[in-house]
Amino acid sequence: MAYLRYYGHAAFEVFVDGKKILIDPYLSNPQSPVKPSEVKDVDLILVTHDHGDHLGDTIEILKNNPKAKVAAIFELANHIAEKIGDPNRAIGGNMGGPMIIDGLKVALTPANHSSSIGVPTGVVIISSEGTLYHAGDTGIMAEMSLIGEIYRPDIVMLPIGGHFTMDPVEAAKAVELLKPKVAIPMHYGTFPVLYGKPEEFKKLVEEKGLKTEVVILKPGDKFEFSFKK
Ligand code: NI
Ligand code: MN
Repeated sequence: MAYLRYYGHAAFEVFVDGKKILIDPYLSNPQSPVKPSEVKDVDLILVTHDHGDHLGDTIEILKNNPKAKVAAIFELANHIAEKIGDPNRAIGGNMGGPMIIDGLKVALTPANHSSSIGVPTGVVIISSEGTLYHAGDTGIMAEMSLIGEIYRPDIVMLPIGGHFTMDPVEAAKAVELLKPKVAIPMHYGTFPVLYGKPEEFKKLVEEKGLKTEVVILKPGDKFEFSFKK
């Protein structure tokens, strides 16, 4: 069965269509229940942008998982290819239609944020068991309406910590624009500066009377799903 597992901060493991995917694997974050060296059988890593809390332990995991590929914005993929010394395992994309990676569709979306190598992105995973949108680091943006309309995400993972990204107020508005079935808060509580609280996010979403269920995961928690198309 398809599932996702939260590793704290913005790091998730997603298992869909028989593939193990890591998103923003900063597994050395203070809340992660696993060490980067413990992750095995990874098929694909998706990196939203080059900040250390997102690129995270990507290089180490790629070195430990020789079959794993990585996909990211073009310039960042090139940077990673150089670090691992293998251009064939780093797939550079851009805003556009989805990339098809070993049969799985992955789209990059804009993110209202900054970065040093290439532009920051969100990622959409389009699988036969559900469509998932991980917003990366972003402020609220009108493009979320379009992301909701085109991809119809079943599950969205949204930053709620504030300071560098949306806080619960903006993230609740993002849910209104995206109209997902499930919204999972992330990017909070890792460091004192990230003040946003998941309970506040849940309350604000519920007050809007939306059909979305807010699911708060603790680091290590697994969430199973099936949204067969
Ligand atoms: Ni960032
Ligand atoms: Mn961040």
